[in-house]
Amino acid sequence: MDIKVKKGRWLQEPADLLLVPVFEEKPFDAPLKAIDKLLKGKISEIFDSGEFKGKAKEVFVFHAPGGLKAKRLLLAGLGERKKFTLDLLRETFGKSAAAIRKLGVKRFSSPLIEGLSKKDKFRDMVQSMVEGAMLGLYEFNFYKTESEEERKEIEAWTLITDDGKKVSEAEKGVKIGRIISEGVSLARDLGNEPSNAATPSRLAEEAKTIGNEFPVRVTILERQDMEELKMGSFLGVARGSEEPPKFIILEYTPVKNAKPIALVGKSVTFDSGGISLKPAEKMEQMKGDMSGGAAVLSTIKVAAQLNLPVNLVGILPATENLPSGTAIKPGDILTSLSGKTIEVINTDAEGRLILADALTYVHRYKPEAIIDMATLTGAVVIALGGEAIGMLGTSDDLKERLKKAGEKTGERVWELPLWESYYPLIKSDVADMKNTGGRSAGTITAAVFLSKFIDDIPWVHLDIAGTAWFETDRSYIPKGNAGTGVRLLIQFLIDSLRR
Ligand code: BES
Ligand code: MN
Ligand code: ZN
Repeated sequence: MDIKVKKGRWLQEPADLLLVPVFEEKPFDAPLKAIDKLLKGKISEIFDSGEFKGKAKEVFVFHAPGGLKAKRLLLAGLGERKKFTLDLLRETFGKSAAAIRKLGVKRFSSPLIEGLSKKDKFRDMVQSMVEGAMLGLYEFNFYKTESEEERKEIEAWTLITDDGKKVSEAEKGVKIGRIISEGVSLARDLGNEPSNAATPSRLAEEAKTIGNEFPVRVTILERQDMEELKMGSFLGVARGSEEPPKFIILEYTPVKNAKPIALVGKSVTFDSGGISLKPAEKMEQMKGDMSGGAAVLSTIKVAAQLNLPVNLVGILPATENLPSGTAIKPGDILTSLSGKTIEVINTDAEGRLILADALTYVHRYKPEAIIDMATLTGAVVIALGGEAIGMLGTSDDLKERLKKAGEKTGERVWELPLWESYYPLIKSDVADMKNTGGRSAGTITAAVFLSKFIDDIPWVHLDIAGTAWFETDRSYIPKGNAGTGVRLLIQFLIDSLRR
């Protein structure tokens, strides 16, 4: 979709469809008042009939609104003005764009109205609109050879402002929104790709492509490199699979003499559970068990595209978790890169095993902070469902900043306690630790396990098992992989720069 900003009088512009976001309050806000006048009270009629009231996420389309030059008018409800948020704007544009595509409309326009919100910056609002529309239109259809009907696609969207001075600000918002949406779409693509395509090698290729296009240094450690390093915990998981494991490192360091922020993303390209095999039902969703890694990869790409002046190191420990004659077995003991020994109780608790070595490894960069992102536990799905990312960590400052970024992006995080009193649950009789702590507090014991591989560096763990994948459509997240975490991390980085 081509997105343009144009100076003009939106009421008078010809278009196949004009999308106008409106609040539910009466008397009408300025744009609606103008339209109502032009259409001789038709909008009042519609509101009075109750067919459309401007409630949040409501969408209403009608044809040939005499008086307007547009062929169709789409009213998109924003609900109550005092409850306005940027994420609601994203949701509104996500729903509207999907509706417009369904109609088969190829080109549409929308006015950039001043005063939608007093507290938000104009550029941020444009960015949110673009994100909502682009993310709402996302489709994963590389493998569809028999299209049921002709694929509908919106070709162009024109944002119209009557204030020429606003054009360049709006264009910046469009650009940022587009880069971020494309980053999220890349993460979604990788998560939606089946495991026979999105292998550890494919993730490594993806990283190399980023390295070729942007100032990002990419290093891939092969199995032999990891053996020399003694990454026994990661290699323990990789042992069950014939797909070569890859330890993918991306370094984006535009700032001289500054410590990096380290991002570590769980990249299990398929999690069968291993010898502790998962049930067949919904096992196919485990192709998305690399969503944390996909988010880290995309975040670094987006940061480089936006030229963010912040040093980043991203690590993706990538492997499959499969049962085989060479796979680890319950009771096996692994020696991690840190030297700590781990008794494997359940081979399906593989995420923490690969993260343990990645977290140890990333210390060599002396990072200012470490954030890891992982589809780590089913328990976080039980605790928070699809509404929040589970957050645990050692730094109140980091947690606070992630919370704020979560509110802004709609990728909300919710904290669980990381108390030392949970540690006895994962103490082993025969090794330093065991890799599961039983049924209770599953998300917490997993995080406590990870915490044992962190020295004195501020650290936060984000468990995205409940938010990486949706079985039904949301406003700007079509069902399937959600590309969760990219917008959260980018917002976190942008806000860190504004401090
Ligand atoms: N990848 C899974 C967690 C998961 C569950 C992700 C549901 C997405 C949706 C993880 O590797 C896993 O299997 N965790 C186990 C740990 C248990 C064996 C201690 C779990 O949560 O059941
Ligand atoms: Mn597992
Ligand atoms: Zn897993």
